[in-house]
Amino acid sequence: MPRARVLVFAGSTRSGALSGKLAAIAAKELALLDADVSLISLSDYDMPIYNGDLEARAGTPEAARRLHAMMLAHRGVYIATPEYNASIPPLLKNTIDWISRMKGSADPFKSCVFALGSTSNGRFGGYRGLMALRQVLELGLGALVLPDQVAVSGAGTAFEEDGNLKDEKTGAMLRSSLRRLIAFAEADV
Ligand SMILES: Cc1cc2nc3c(=O)[nH]c(=O)nc-3n(C[C@H](O)[C@H](O)[C@H](O)COP(=O)(O)O)c2cc1C
Repeated sequence: MPRARVLVFAGSTRSGALSGKLAAIAAKELALLDADVSLISLSDYDMPIYNGDLEARAGTPEAARRLHAMMLAHRGVYIATPEYNASIPPLLKNTIDWISRMKGSADPFKSCVFALGSTSNGRFGGYRGLMALRQVLELGLGALVLPDQVAVSGAGTAFEEDGNLKDEKTGAMLRSSLRRLIAFAEADV
């Protein structure tokens, strides 16, 4: 069976981003589980804020077309998101919005299966941002989003120097969600 192709990215491009740390450990664990992993940064897919006039004038930004193609080349997508005001950060929403505008071409939100994780220094680990992202993907775009998810609380001190999660239970939850993502990415669903 060919290895599951999984795309991984964080909803923040900040240097030292906590969500970036979760994306990095998810990518490492996926590779250990023998998936074919692409870890990308949204800083390489810079897009203007969505504006209908801009879209009518200039079409879809080149970065959105590249990321759309990147998603289509994978069967699984893992997104690690921060929480902004109990929701998803504008960078992530804007990125998803642009890609969702690429009508008439293959729809990566239908061809990919998604797994999500979040980070926050707070007690709930960005759980509200995670649920908001789930709503956008599931209700807004009809994507298959796996129920298994991990919300890393106290994220500023949750990672070891080598990037691993200090808390064994959280690490086990992450691996469990990634195993399921691989299983779905390999399945013909
Ligand atoms: C505009 C804004 C709103 C935020 N709202 C929340 C929030 O609702 N809950 C939370 O836990 N953290 C909140 N934070 C803190 C972020 O979770 C924190 O800055 C985090 O480190 C950003 O993610 P990153 O480390 O992946 O860049 C907010 C930060 C910003 C800038």
